[in-house]
Amino acid sequence: MDPYFATSDPCWLRPENARALLDREVVVRGDGCAATVRRDVDLLRALTGLAPVAGRGRVLVATVGDLTAEGDDDVVGRVPEGLTADGYAVVPDDEGVVVTALDERGLLHGFYALQRHGEQLLTTDVPVLDVPGNPVRMINQWDNMRADGPMGSVERGYAGRSIFYADGRVVADRSRIRDYARLLASVGINALSLNNVNVHADESRLLTEHLADVADLAGILREYGIAAYLSVNFAAPIELGGLATADPLAPDVAAWWRRTTDAVYEAIPDFGGYVVKADSENRPGPFSYGRDHADGANLLAAALEPHGGRVFWRCFVYDHQQDWRDRSTDRARAAYDHFMPLDGRFADNVVLQVKMGPMDFQVREPVSPLIGGLERTNVAVEFQVTQEYTGHQKHVCYLVPQWREVLDFPTRGDDGAPVREIAAGRTFARPVSGVCAVSNVGDDRTWTGHPLAQANLYGFGRLAWDPTLAPDVVLDEWLALTFPGADEVHAALREIMAGSWLTYERYTAPLGVGWMVNPGSHYGPSVDGYEYTAWGTYHFADRDGVGVDRTVATGTGFAGQYHEPWASTYEDVTTCPTELALFFHHLPYDHTLRTGSTVIQHIYDTHFVGVEEVEAMVTRWQGVAHLVAAEVSDEVSRRMAEQLRSAREWRDQITTYFWRKSGVPDAHGRAIH
Ligand code: GCU
Repeated sequence: MDPYFATSDPCWLRPENARALLDREVVVRGDGCAATVRRDVDLLRALTGLAPVAGRGRVLVATVGDLTAEGDDDVVGRVPEGLTADGYAVVPDDEGVVVTALDERGLLHGFYALQRHGEQLLTTDVPVLDVPGNPVRMINQWDNMRADGPMGSVERGYAGRSIFYADGRVVADRSRIRDYARLLASVGINALSLNNVNVHADESRLLTEHLADVADLAGILREYGIAAYLSVNFAAPIELGGLATADPLAPDVAAWWRRTTDAVYEAIPDFGGYVVKADSENRPGPFSYGRDHADGANLLAAALEPHGGRVFWRCFVYDHQQDWRDRSTDRARAAYDHFMPLDGRFADNVVLQVKMGPMDFQVREPVSPLIGGLERTNVAVEFQVTQEYTGHQKHVCYLVPQWREVLDFPTRGDDGAPVREIAAGRTFARPVSGVCAVSNVGDDRTWTGHPLAQANLYGFGRLAWDPTLAPDVVLDEWLALTFPGADEVHAALREIMAGSWLTYERYTAPLGVGWMVNPGSHYGPSVDGYEYTAWGTYHFADRDGVGVDRTVATGTGFAGQYHEPWASTYEDVTTCPTELALFFHHLPYDHTLRTGSTVIQHIYDTHFVGVEEVEAMVTRWQGVAHLVAAEVSDEVSRRMAEQLRSAREWRDQITTYFWRKSGVPDAHGRAIH
């Protein structure tokens, strides 16, 4: 039998969480994802030794089609209205409950829900319906096939090496990949892109030379209801096909993509499609041929269309060779400036993948105005589970509250539609919309380096499924599943984690200004690290003030990319949300914020408070660490010590820098260096 988390932590899928299910007789019909359910039930029984207990009832797992064929009209008649693809219903009957769905993927999701909600769901006396809020729920691996490139095995990975590749090939032992598929399926993920968006020569050949391996990976993912995607190099016709051009309008280029894509579908009939980073950070793209991104995306879309595949075309397109002396160019504007004029020109199977903010996954940014701007194009909102700018999985930073804030933002203003409705494709009928996120896993035993960072992977999946879930509810679910039965540990970790994103914001970059990190690594403070670089990421601090004037009146005009009321709200410093004050405005140090504090005093106060909060986290953790398995607790303790060291470094560098620039002392006389 397959191993079940033989070499890694089972995270929230602890076999004991399945107890209530395994106590019952489980009958599964079907041979696709249903066969996965059957096999995993057997595995869990073998692992736990749990067999059905007389009198506990039975769980029947079968599609609506199967139930109808069996003449089980009573159950079918009681399935609540509104069942959709991937969703499931749990319907009580005389013998226990029936888990049913339109498709077998839905059965799989129901099976995991029975582990998550146990007895409560198994004893429901009313039918329960649970359908996904987003059609596309995708994870992007930023995995490289070799560990020795500039970014190592996983770009922006903080949890060991890739679980997919080593030494330029797909790993031979794929049991870890199966375990990963289980983890992803258990939170409802239905799409996975298998390689870094920066497609190097090795990964490029996944499309051709390594196709048999990709087909094998896709087969594993298929068992868990997950469609495989590949990131492709826009210049692949040159790199792999030996053509002289990758011009999207050249007939031989189109023919090459068609042939290549046909071969992919021959090997993988349910292949998802392509993810593309083009004309971005040195990646090739249509600009080289005087074409635009609609030409580029539609080229690939045409090759995929006959097979039902999709292109996820990333909008992270900006000038990374800026001159810092040039005050007129604003990186924040770039995605909107490039893509809004193309709205309506993309094929139906193109999805524009837009980062949640206009810059790059900073701890605080406004929502990207492009998300609310596009009206005639599928949109997927991109999040970052890996903690590139939020502490490299050395710092506790529970990101679900940040994502929820983004999803709730009523970006279309008077229309009222929040980002979650747009992402779900409900505005303007965009059927292949959704959310995607950069993974935070590696071959580390705990998957995520910091054991508590597992909550972010769990949380992304849960929000992708139901974007209305409250962050605290998600956290409580995760705690209950990950540390079963440990109430004291839950209480402590809830306190430590719930507000940890805001704590991280406090001791790092203030008021939405962002980017005060070490260039390259993006870890630790370096206030001027990016100030005179080509990346377009500036704070403009001088002796009088700090921040970026992005107003229409006197600045870069970025604020004007929003719908009303946001354009005016951000434009006016008296209405701009405090947490974004320096994102939209260059303010004097003595400017009084809406909180009543001055800019400089806010910077001092938040940095001192942020460190005090980390100190409190450490103390709270020390009180319960002994209640947690040593290998987990040692890891958490070690990383928290680093978080505290780093938070103090952040505080001291930021407060000192701004004291030296401004000459304004801290009103509370605290130590600044
Ligand atoms: C950031 C990140 C890169 C990544 C890029 C992207 O710039 O630092 O490593 O490739 O985002 O999203 O494409």
